[in-house]
Amino acid sequence: MYLEPKLKYSHSNTIADFGDACSAILPLAADQHLTPSLQIADTLLGGAISAAIASGDLTGKLKNQHLFLNSTSGPKRILVVGTGASEKLNDSKCRQLHKAAWSALKANPGQRVHNELCLAQSSSLNQADQTRLAIETLTKSQYSFDQFKSKSQDHNEAPAKADMVIVAPEAEGQLKQSIATAAAMDMCRDLGNLPGNICTPSYLAEQAIAMAATSPKVQADIIEEDSMAELGMHCLLSVGKGSNEASKLIILKYQGAAEATAPHVLVGKGITFDTGGISLKPGASMDEMKYDMCGAASVLAAMQAVIDMALPVNVVAIVASAENMPAGNATKPGDIVTTMSGKTVEILNTDAEGRLVLCDALTYAERFNPASVVDVATLTGACIIALGHHTSAVLSNDDEFAQELMATGKQAFDTAWQLPIGDAYQEQLSSNFADMANIGGRPAGTITAACFLARFAESYKWAHIDIAGTAWTSGKAKGATGRCVPLLVQHLINQA
Ligand code: BES
Ligand code: MN
Ligand code: ZN
Repeated sequence: MYLEPKLKYSHSNTIADFGDACSAILPLAADQHLTPSLQIADTLLGGAISAAIASGDLTGKLKNQHLFLNSTSGPKRILVVGTGASEKLNDSKCRQLHKAAWSALKANPGQRVHNELCLAQSSSLNQADQTRLAIETLTKSQYSFDQFKSKSQDHNEAPAKADMVIVAPEAEGQLKQSIATAAAMDMCRDLGNLPGNICTPSYLAEQAIAMAATSPKVQADIIEEDSMAELGMHCLLSVGKGSNEASKLIILKYQGAAEATAPHVLVGKGITFDTGGISLKPGASMDEMKYDMCGAASVLAAMQAVIDMALPVNVVAIVASAENMPAGNATKPGDIVTTMSGKTVEILNTDAEGRLVLCDALTYAERFNPASVVDVATLTGACIIALGHHTSAVLSNDDEFAQELMATGKQAFDTAWQLPIGDAYQEQLSSNFADMANIGGRPAGTITAACFLARFAESYKWAHIDIAGTAWTSGKAKGATGRCVPLLVQHLINQA
């Protein structure tokens, strides 16, 4: 595996007897019914759990918790954590309770090499979904990005080789998928958090080459600027023109099915830094524009999960990568370029650069005769206005495909919501001087951006996912989120 999660997850079919566990995490529902695992723990603790319920200290309300230290046999620590009403447990509550439980254990120094996690008995959230959410939440809780801090950080976290046994008799099949997804989200976070002076287009290309080296089923091809020019990708080339970093078109092919099987293609926006170019962005928070390659990161990470799971499906990842900089030779507003498709574009705003790199990548995708194409991009600020930070936008030339991806997002607890694209919006892109302009004015910015892309995706089933709002958290917890890796991984699993 490319990135080892700091917690090693495994699975147990039987009710926990807590053999040699150091810590046990036990959910307690609001009805305070003692599950078989809670009964065993209560006996080990000489009735302390029942006593805490009787005294009102343990209520079973969401996140209400108590850590029992145990000096008899069995685990040294027994953490009982409330889930709320068992028939009202949902994904958000499930994430909250695992986050709270793990930070309570982390706050308690001492050996935590071997941990056991029991799942809630719930009519509203099955064990497979709880397993998925637990592994994602615990992995996120363990994530840190401190490779550029010179002093080693005291995270007071689990030792490097800590393991977490998930007691889930009905959910063994979910484990492998969830571990691969959580590890891929860590990879996506790392790529998104890396600064623009390290994570350049060349760096992304090196990551793809390194991934290909790990498996005979994977092949990486890097298309350099001179080959792009030969292919007629002048639109992609126009974006990196003012940068000293060479643009790269990265092709990563995974063959898990028969060679003749049409591949599912993922295309990622890989702007490793977006200054806006000559249409320069304001200075405040510009540092965050290092995350403008999170589409590329989520596509590469999903590919890594596919490799880890050895999925029987053919996948092609295409990353269009450039750095958008102002310079004496940079593209200017009003410049007209010819795309690989032959269509011409008047670049009215150099800050609408994502669509300019993606359009040539979408034309390139035609050569794979794809079963489907999904592109992922931090494409528009307007998407944050429309959907905020919780839901990605999905737009497609095929309504059924959009519905399918929304369902996939729901299945993966990585939600996306469809916005319309239609001819009425296409008119906003008209240009006096070229086939189209690269901007459509202020109204419906996410939709007109997708309308631009749709013009280059006419020959196959295509969807576009805008992750401008979901890929990044600002403020105190600033950093990349790993979205929409779960959706992409589930999408590919569903095709296998
Ligand atoms: N990378 C940005 C979009 C973005 C903005 C992502 C904020 C995440 C947070 C994109 O390249 C961009 O600048 N889009 C412009 C388009 C406009 C000029 C039509 C935007 O959204 O303002
Ligand atoms: Mn931009
Ligand atoms: Zn951008």
